[in-house]
Amino acid sequence: MKLLKKASSRETISDILETGVLNKIETDRKIPAPYEMKFLDKSYIDDVISLAKLVVSLLEREDLFIKDSKDFFMENIFDGKGLLIGVLCEGKLVAYRSVSFPMNSARNFGKDHKNIPQDELSRVMHFEATVVHPDFRGNSLQEKMSRYALDFGKARGMLHVCTTISPYNYPSIKNIMNVGLTVRGLKRIDNEEYEGKLRLLLTMDFRDKPKMLYADSINIDHRDIEKQKYLLKMGYTGYKVQITDSGFDIVYGK
Ligand SMILES: CC(C)(COP(=O)(O)OP(=O)(O)OC[C@H]1O[C@@H](n2cnc3c(N)ncnc32)[C@H](O)[C@@H]1OP(=O)(O)O)[C@@H](O)C(=O)NCCC(=O)NCCS
Repeated sequence: MKLLKKASSRETISDILETGVLNKIETDRKIPAPYEMKFLDKSYIDDVISLAKLVVSLLEREDLFIKDSKDFFMENIFDGKGLLIGVLCEGKLVAYRSVSFPMNSARNFGKDHKNIPQDELSRVMHFEATVVHPDFRGNSLQEKMSRYALDFGKARGMLHVCTTISPYNYPSIKNIMNVGLTVRGLKRIDNEEYEGKLRLLLTMDFRDKPKMLYADSINIDHRDIEKQKYLLKMGYTGYKVQITDSGFDIVYGK
């Protein structure tokens, strides 16, 4: 709630959200690098597109992340339609988080969740993309930017946040679970945007208290798609990730 108070007293969209010092990775060394986190407007679009392009070129699996086009940003993010938070280090964009408010459009991830009633779809926000330059990873930037985005979504009257993440994307699942979203579905999304890619469907209702205890918990290897689908069908939700000798598990509870 502290952040929310800060949010409502903010006067312009270009206000700085926070400043500090990041660990920058330079040839196996970490060096301090001052940064500022702030809202980005259209003038940053080319920097955003270049950063996404670089990160995509370095992905270890091609299906981990889908970069958005310039048109997507223009239609869904800028001019108050969504939000774009960025991190600048020595004047250079090193990370961003995009958010959209789909309202009653066809592309509303809330439709995938049985717990979101039809009359609340206009109060769904989407976590779209987060990108962090490889030299600046490990500074919890995805989590920090996502927390600011949630505060702004709540201040705008949203009740739910929804997102999709590849079941192979450990850092993203971990960070998004840390801010409170849980896995409620898993499917291949057969449309032009996702081209049949497999995605975990995560959501959070802002009115719910975070569930701390599950009577029944089961660890599933993230690659075991069928078992995860079965548990989801049985009413389990995925709420934690755990590193294992062979990779990582997603922990499902009921
Ligand atoms: C996902 C991403 C945004 C996270 O970056 P970040 O905020 O710097 O990550 P964090 O600082 O929170 O690190 C979280 C954990 O993941 C690890 N990590 C971060 N990026 C990693 C990567 N690409 N590969 C493996 N591990 C990674 C960190 O060491 C940390 O692990 P730990 O908590 O067990 O020690 C970043 O990896 C990225 O840009 N990935 C490519 C684009 C993408 O997949 N975006 C998310 C989908 S929209």
